[in-house]
Amino acid sequence: MRLKLAVPSLALLPFLLASCTAIEPDDYRKVISMERDDFRVLQLTDIHWSLSTNIPRQKEYMDILVEHSDPDLIVITGDALFTATKNIATMLYDYIDSLGIPYAVVYGNHDMQGMWSSSWMDQNIVRENAAFSIVQDDVDGRTNWVIDIERDGETVWQVFGIDSNSYMADGLLYQYDYIQESQVQWFQGMAEEGVPSIGFLHIPLWEYAYAYQEDPDGIIGELREPDSATPGLVDEVGEVPFYPSSVHSSFFDAAREAGMRGIFGGHDHSNDWVGMYEGVALGYGVKCGRELYYGVSEEGYDLTGAALYTLGIDESLQITHMYLDNTTLEFTNEVTVEVAR
Ligand SMILES: [Fe+2]
Repeated sequence: MRLKLAVPSLALLPFLLASCTAIEPDDYRKVISMERDDFRVLQLTDIHWSLSTNIPRQKEYMDILVEHSDPDLIVITGDALFTATKNIATMLYDYIDSLGIPYAVVYGNHDMQGMWSSSWMDQNIVRENAAFSIVQDDVDGRTNWVIDIERDGETVWQVFGIDSNSYMADGLLYQYDYIQESQVQWFQGMAEEGVPSIGFLHIPLWEYAYAYQEDPDGIIGELREPDSATPGLVDEVGEVPFYPSSVHSSFFDAAREAGMRGIFGGHDHSNDWVGMYEGVALGYGVKCGRELYYGVSEEGYDLTGAALYTLGIDESLQITHMYLDNTTLEFTNEVTVEVAR
């Protein structure tokens, strides 16, 4: 996040400099070892616990998803809360931490909307099993992190979290924010050459729409959001069923150049589509539970559940979408695709 520093008196400068601790790349990095021939990342997105959430029921819902997918890492891609209290926010991360599985979080556009400070929420989301830290730096966004997946002492995959920020003022309106240049540079500094990676964020990139323009069917999932006319993007691709950042970020180009294989977000609850653009899989996970609003598939089952990414030691990447009904707690469908190399 941007630090807002008052200009110090010159007399204080030596003391301030002496107390500064340099930020090292390792401050952003956690390491998890790959214990089998693949590494399983479970994405939970747009959980949206609120004042009206039946919390025991939603814990049961997530228990089933976690047990079914047996993940090595859980990534929460934003909007974990909505009109919640500190107590509800605490209960959610008490629950996530109690699973005893390494987890990481990127913020969505709703996570700071509550009676809490951002520093309180930062502390709330980083618990004992957190596989990420929040670094007090001058890079935009609070949740930028990387997890190196190691096998026999070598990094075989990297998993990135990039904070897509929340809102930006545009005249009298607030639009969805975007991944800033400081974050792109941070990413370029953390990506290891020759190591495949996947990235998680909340708000879709413009390239999602470019992938859709090339192949509306994509490789998995559905698009059930109404069309939006995002200013600027609409001139390029027309109205499309995505609600991306209002500014075209340069993050995708940096990610592709660094060998990122897939970028997965949330935000558009009724979409769980993934398409390909310039060799990179781009799209959504599956909304976790019915809170706030959710989509229904063409076949009639809810587009709710979770996404699992299986990272192979052979650099293969599989995407699985599992659909779990919030009423019956029964799985209604499961689809797996291999991402082309
Ligand atoms: Fe959301």
